[in-house]
Amino acid sequence: MNQAKNNRRQGTNKRSQRNPKQAPAEGQNGLSLRAEAARALVPILNARGSLASLDDSRVAPRDRALLREICYGVCRTLPRLEALASVLLKSSFKARDTDIQALLLVGIYQLLYLRIPAHAAVGETAGAARLLDKGWATRVLNGCLRRLQREASEMQAKVDRDPAVALLHPVWWLKALRQAWPNDWREIAIANNQAGPMTLRVNRRRTSQEAYLERLRENGIEARPCEHAPDGLTLETPCDVSALPGFAEGNVSVQDEAAQLAIELLGPALAPRPGAQVLDACSAPGGKTAHLLEAFDVSLQALDSDAERLQRVEGTLERLGLSAQLSAADAGEQDWWDGTPFDAILLDAPCSGSGVIRRHPDIKRLRRPDDIGQLAALQARLLDNLWQTLASGGTLVYATCSVLPEENSEQITAFLERTPDAEIDTPQGLAWGVESGAGRQLLPREHGHDGFFYARLKRK
Ligand SMILES: C[S@@+](CC[C@H](N)C(=O)[O-])C[C@H]1O[C@@H](n2cnc3c(N)ncnc32)[C@H](O)[C@@H]1O
Repeated sequence: MNQAKNNRRQGTNKRSQRNPKQAPAEGQNGLSLRAEAARALVPILNARGSLASLDDSRVAPRDRALLREICYGVCRTLPRLEALASVLLKSSFKARDTDIQALLLVGIYQLLYLRIPAHAAVGETAGAARLLDKGWATRVLNGCLRRLQREASEMQAKVDRDPAVALLHPVWWLKALRQAWPNDWREIAIANNQAGPMTLRVNRRRTSQEAYLERLRENGIEARPCEHAPDGLTLETPCDVSALPGFAEGNVSVQDEAAQLAIELLGPALAPRPGAQVLDACSAPGGKTAHLLEAFDVSLQALDSDAERLQRVEGTLERLGLSAQLSAADAGEQDWWDGTPFDAILLDAPCSGSGVIRRHPDIKRLRRPDDIGQLAALQARLLDNLWQTLASGGTLVYATCSVLPEENSEQITAFLERTPDAEIDTPQGLAWGVESGAGRQLLPREHGHDGFFYARLKRK
């Protein structure tokens, strides 16, 4: 056995003395929190991982909310933080020191955006370099953060002269938004920079919007009914789901208002037809699958190509007391289909997520311009294949959480052109969204819903 392996077994190597899985030592919570935030941000800075896998188990329970706030906040404000970091540093860090770059961004974020006493933000961030086994960086970080403390306003004004920095988006992204939405692109970017509200979907099989609103009030939780989603309630202040009365019993789920509108479009096809055969083609983690089953008595097959994500659908349905046939399969193939045509299909397609940046701010770093064309090609493949499994007279609702026409209106226009037995069936004059080609586009709203696109198609 080589020495390193031997050391690992006996727990004698340097790293295992500071096993990151162990709870931080007394008095080290602040340092550990910053070091953990830096570790979590490295894969995102390298565009190789996302915040979806953020593991907060290594920080003290009372620091977990702050860890999330820092990680999400850094991603949300990354263009500005990175611009400030380059002003503060004489030369950039080496690639192997991305963790120290991340720590610097964590420090800048705290000084500019959080109400943490500056001496703690500076001292604990700089000190956290030692927990990353890079004690040499303590002085550099201290120096940079102290300088920022003195010169924050001038430095920020300087970097904000670049509109991409001021609007906190990559240049290509702003260009795409501007081209798609010449009148709204700035508001979209501003809405993307806010943390989205927490919206609930009341399980109409168990309770009603009104009754659950009352129950929330009794529990001291302020909320208001959503403008357009009949099962939706938006909380004044986000809270942990464990604080929601009846959550574990399946009375309520967390789901944005825009995502709740899928069943409004499926309603006319499904409400009058108990037992209808329905396919939810890209179902995980199961938000719309569950909503469909709460609203209609249908027989539902839920697909997802990601078997691990599909397990989350199972968990969600179990909590809500609902059931569906789950298949881990590619919706671009037909090996999962028994040949019985579906009366309705929901295709909530994989997309850029450009409408939900406020909930997943790491998307701004992880997406590349080429991704959009590749995603549009995948969406077209799914549409063409699933159309073959739809009954004549059947309904297909196409949805994305994107605001980019290539994935939305242009996608559906091209589909209609190459599919003679498909016709537009998106209702006219809906109270939500704006008409966009054959579909309806919701743009992300400050304090309101996410960005989403829906089109309803009928097979002649
Ligand atoms: C937008 S998410 C679906 C969200 C889900 N409908 C909900 O409301 O909770 C898109 C899903 O498509 C899945 N997916 C991607 N490519 C797929 C394919 N070829 N076949 C089936 N599912 C796919 C992804 O794993 C992802 O879970």
